[in-house]
Amino acid sequence: MNNDYIDFLAHFGIGGAHPGGFPLTKRLFDSFDISSSASLLDIGCGTGQTAAFLWEKYGCNITAVDKHPLMVEKAKNRFKKNNSSIHVVTGDAEQLAFPTDSFDLIVSESVISFNDVPKTSQELSRVLKDGGQLLAIEMTTNQPLTEELQNQIEQLYGITKVFNQEEWVEEFTQAGFQSVTLLEAPSDLEINDVNDLQPSENLNEKWYDIWDDHTLLMAQANMPLSYRIFLCEK
Ligand SMILES: C[S@@+](CC[C@H](N)C(=O)[O-])C[C@H]1O[C@@H](n2cnc3c(N)ncnc32)[C@H](O)[C@@H]1O
Repeated sequence: MNNDYIDFLAHFGIGGAHPGGFPLTKRLFDSFDISSSASLLDIGCGTGQTAAFLWEKYGCNITAVDKHPLMVEKAKNRFKKNNSSIHVVTGDAEQLAFPTDSFDLIVSESVISFNDVPKTSQELSRVLKDGGQLLAIEMTTNQPLTEELQNQIEQLYGITKVFNQEEWVEEFTQAGFQSVTLLEAPSDLEINDVNDLQPSENLNEKWYDIWDDHTLLMAQANMPLSYRIFLCEK
């Protein structure tokens, strides 16, 4: 994977690196009842904050997958420290090494946008059991982007197209999901401060610059970027 933004997240070891962050994750799972025999996939698990939380909360069978070797290493460190028995593997969401119909629930927090969206959605649908659910938090745009903003997003995040809500629903439907429900983000969500870090030694100046660029971009006035939470049932 050649994506400086993902490299930046991996080098700082930033947990909860999705819109709404870990506060949103915790709130979303307030309303999920997951049995301890369920099999769950955290795709693009990053440093494993969500997987560790879900393991503690539900004690179910969790597989955490990421494509970035440093993310996988940092997730492994976290799980070892927490004594979480989570199966961690390096893998590619566009082409997973799991059989068809493997998982009851897939959690994907800000991952699909960084990939070929139809291919990744189809692959997640394939490895999900019939009746299983995909919970996906993804970046959306509320209006067509100016060419300037699209270029900035592509340059910073390597994302070539930001989908609007309807386009996401269409992609998930095309990928074989029977229903796509939009979940409301809680209106009283805590501010998502970055407070879960596993920094590498000797952090390069370049990673600090990317963090600044990200902060500046998100602080732009009238920013049309937002996010949606999709619950897709196969
Ligand atoms: C924005 S980060 C989110 C990380 C984590 N889900 C979180 O919320 O903290 C995106 C993550 O997805 C991983 N990722 C992106 N594309 C992937 C792919 N095709 N297969 C597996 N992991 C991928 C990246 O390496 C990175 O860890």
